[in-house]
Amino acid sequence: MLDARTVLQMNEVRLSDYRPPDWLVPTVALDVRLDVDRTLVTSRLTVTRNGDHRRPLRLDGQDLETRRILVDGAPVEAVPNGEELVLAIPGDSAVVEIEVAIAPRTNTRLMGLYGSDDLLVTQCEAEGFRRITWFPDRPDVLSLYTVRLEGDAAQFPILLSNGDRGAAETLDGGRHAVTWTDPWPKPSYLFAMVGGQLAALRDEFVTMNGRRVELAIWTAAADVGRCSHAMAALKASMDWDERIYGREYDLDQFNIVAVSDFNAGAMENKGLNVFNSKYILADSETATDADFDAVAGVVAHEYFHNWTGNRVTCRDWFQLSLKEGLTVFRDQQFSADQGSAAVRRIDDVRALRAVQFPEDAGPHAHPIRPDHYVEIGNFYTATVYNKGAEVIRMLHTLLGRDGFRRGTDLYFERHDGQAVTCEDWVAAMEAATGRNLTQFRRWYDQAGTPTVTVHMARAGRQLTVNLAQSLAATPGQPSKAMMHMPFRLALIGRDSGRRIGDERLVELTAGETRLVFEDLDEPVLLSLNRGFSAPVKVVAPASRADLAFLAGADDDPFARWEAMQRLSLDVLATDDDPHELVDAIAATLADGAAGRLDPAFVGEAVLLPTEAFIGDQASVVDVESIHRRREAARAAIAAVLEPQWWQAWHWHSGTGTALNAGAKGARRLANVALAYLVTAGSAEALAAARQQYDGAATMTDRIGALSALINTDTPERDACLADFYDRFAGNGDVIDKWFTVQALSTRADTLEQVQVLLRHKDFTLHNPNRLRALVGAFAANQRRFHAADGSGYRLLADQLLAVDRINPQSAARLAVPLGRWQRFDAGRGALMQAQLQRIAGTAGVSKDVMEMATRALA
Ligand code: ARG
Ligand code: ZN
Repeated sequence: MLDARTVLQMNEVRLSDYRPPDWLVPTVALDVRLDVDRTLVTSRLTVTRNGDHRRPLRLDGQDLETRRILVDGAPVEAVPNGEELVLAIPGDSAVVEIEVAIAPRTNTRLMGLYGSDDLLVTQCEAEGFRRITWFPDRPDVLSLYTVRLEGDAAQFPILLSNGDRGAAETLDGGRHAVTWTDPWPKPSYLFAMVGGQLAALRDEFVTMNGRRVELAIWTAAADVGRCSHAMAALKASMDWDERIYGREYDLDQFNIVAVSDFNAGAMENKGLNVFNSKYILADSETATDADFDAVAGVVAHEYFHNWTGNRVTCRDWFQLSLKEGLTVFRDQQFSADQGSAAVRRIDDVRALRAVQFPEDAGPHAHPIRPDHYVEIGNFYTATVYNKGAEVIRMLHTLLGRDGFRRGTDLYFERHDGQAVTCEDWVAAMEAATGRNLTQFRRWYDQAGTPTVTVHMARAGRQLTVNLAQSLAATPGQPSKAMMHMPFRLALIGRDSGRRIGDERLVELTAGETRLVFEDLDEPVLLSLNRGFSAPVKVVAPASRADLAFLAGADDDPFARWEAMQRLSLDVLATDDDPHELVDAIAATLADGAAGRLDPAFVGEAVLLPTEAFIGDQASVVDVESIHRRREAARAAIAAVLEPQWWQAWHWHSGTGTALNAGAKGARRLANVALAYLVTAGSAEALAAARQQYDGAATMTDRIGALSALINTDTPERDACLADFYDRFAGNGDVIDKWFTVQALSTRADTLEQVQVLLRHKDFTLHNPNRLRALVGAFAANQRRFHAADGSGYRLLADQLLAVDRINPQSAARLAVPLGRWQRFDAGRGALMQAQLQRIAGTAGVSKDVMEMATRALA
C-alpha cells in the first residue's frame, strides 16, 4: 500500500516539467444539445502537429460518456484510459470529431456544465472544459471557437456563449438554436455557455474608437432591478481602462450572467462573464456599502481580465498570478479612483494581513508563482491574488506611473494573442524602462513575509536610521535571498507634529540599509512603510506615547491608521489599563467631530484589531487571554467615551441611501459607535439599536444594528434576528448574512447555535456561499471555533468530509483553518492535527482535500 504522501507526489505537477503542447487546435466547433439530465456535445477540432515529433494526440476528459470518435471522418476504436484519450494521428494535421454525453444535474462540483436554479451554466477555469468534452485542456492551446447551442425553447429561451451572437434557428418540436462565434483565439478555460430563462438589464458603451458595444446583465426576471449598480460599474470600468491603460473592448457584445451556485467570485470568460450573484445583485435594501463596493470591484476585475488574462493569457497554471495579481492590482487602482483612496488602501492591507500573512506563515505557504501542485484549484489563494497584487504595486512604485504604463504598453504590444509567463511580464517592464529587475524577480520565487527591523540613533542634529531585512524559512525553502523592496518613509516632528522634509522612497536591496538625516531641529518620529509600499512586517521600537502622537499627526493616512493599530496591539498584548488607547481614540473622535478627519477614516481608525490579527502577532495564540483583554478594552473604550459615541451616533446615523463617500463614511462611523454603545450596555443603547434596526433605510444600517446586538442576551437581539429572517426569506444572498452574523457571535452558545443552524431547512452543503456563510464564518470566530475541547475542530472536519463528496474544491478550502495548528498551544494543536489525520485517513477523499490536509500535517 502506498501512503497518502507518496500518492500525492506521484500526482504532482512541476513547473520544471513544462513542455510546449505536442498538438495545437486552431479551431473548435461545438454543437451542444442542452438537457439537464443528458447533454450531448459534439466537438469538431482541427489539430495540427506542433514541432518535429511522432507523439500521439493526448486529450483530457473527466466524467464524460464517450459515444463516438472520428479522425478525418473515419471511426476509430480508441478507448479512454481514465482521464486521458490517446489518438494516433498519422499526418501533421487532422479533423477530430468526438461525441460525448454529460450529466449536468448530477454535477455537484460546479466545474464544467452544471445546473444552478433553472439554468445550465459552465465554469471552466482552471480545468473544467475537460468535463464538457475531450480536449488538450491547458492554457497554452488557443483556439477559435464556434458554438451552436440547441435546446427546448421554453426551458432555454436564452442561449449564450462567447463572442458575437450569430444565426438563430427555430426548430421542430418547440426547439431552437443559436450560434455564437468568438473571433479571438482563446484557451479552453475561457469558454462559457449558459442556457435558461433569463431577463436582462441592457445598456451600451461607445469605445474610444467609436465601437458601439451592447451590454447586458442577465439574471432572473425578478432581480433585473438589482443590477444597475453592477451596470454602472461595468461602464465605469470600460472607460477607466481606456483612460488609464489605453485598453479598448474588442467585441460588439458584453454579457454578464449572475448565478446562485458558484465556487468562486466570478469568471472572466471571453465576452460572457459568469458571476456569483452576490457580486452582481445590489440595492440598498439588501446590500451593505461593503457589498456595493465588492460588486463594483469584482465587475471591474472581471472586465479588466479582458486584457490582462484573455488577450494576453497564461502559458501554464504556475503563472496564475500573471493575470490575477495584475488584475487585482488594476481593480484596486480603479476602486481607489472611485473615491476615498486612503480607506481603500487600509481595507486592502487589512484583507492581506487577515488572510495572506497567515498563509505565508503556515504550512501552505507558497510563492506567488508556485513551482509544484497536485490540484491547481488549491492555488487560487490570497498569495497568488493579493500578494501578487502587492508585487505589481511595488513595480508601479519603483517604475513610477509613466514607467509602469510604458511597461504595460510594451507587454500588450509584445504578447497580444499569446500565452506567456511572469518572466515575460518582468522582461517587458525592464525593456520599457531600462531598469534592472533581477533581484526584484525573487518576489516570484520566495514565499514568506519579509520583516524589516528599524533602529534609529540620534546624535545632536543628526539621525541615523538602520533598516534590516530578513525572511524566515518556509516549507521547501530553508534559506532565502535578500529582496528588493520599495520602502517609503518620512520624519514627523515630535514637537511640531509636522512632516520634516520630503517623503523618501528607499530601495532596500541589501541586508542592512543605513540612512542619515542631518540638520534636525527637533526630536522626530519615523513614519514607516507609508502607503504600505512593501508587503512586509515592520518591527520598530516606539513608545505608546509616540504611537499615540503619530496616530494624531502622521500625514500619511495609512501610516496614521497603522500607528493606531500598533498602539492597540501593544496595549492588548498586556493586562494594562487601556487608558492610552482610550485617549487616542478620544483624540481621533475629536478630530472627526471638528471636521479634521473624514468619518470613514475615523470609523476605520477606532476599530480594534481582530482577535485573529492579535493572535498573529504572538508565537502562540492564547485564545482566552486575547478575547478577555480585547473585551475588557472594548468595555473601557465604550464606557469612558460613552458621550462621544452617542454624539457620533446621533450625528451620523439616519444618513439615508446615498452611496457617496461621505454617506458611506457616516454609516460606517455610526455603526461602530452603536456597537460601542451596546457594549456599554445601557437600556438606551439597546433601544437605539432596536430603533436603528426597525427604521433602517439601508442594509448597512440594518445588519449594523443586528451585529451590535448579536453578542448580547437580550429580547432585542432575538426579535431582530427573527425579523431579519422573515423579512428576507427567499433572498439567498441576504439569508447568508443571517447565518454569518450568528456564526460570528462571541456568545458562549455559538457552537451550539451553529449545530442548530446546520440542520436549518435553508442550510445546504451544495451552495458554496451558504457553506462559507455558516461553516467558513464560524471557523473565523477565533474564540468559539478554538474551543479548548476541540468541538469546533470536529464540527469543521465533519462538514469538510460531507462536502468533499459533493464539491471537493469547496471542501479543500475548509482545511485551511486546521492547518494553523502549529500556532496554537499543545492541547489545541493536537486536537487540530487529529482532525487533519482523520481527514487524510478517510477512504475516497478527493485529491483536493488530500493535498491540503497532507501539506498541513507535514
Ligand atoms: N479567474 C477567476 C477570477 O477572476 C477565478 C476562477 C476561480 N477558479 C477556481 N478554480 N477557483 O478571479
Ligand atoms: Zn481574476
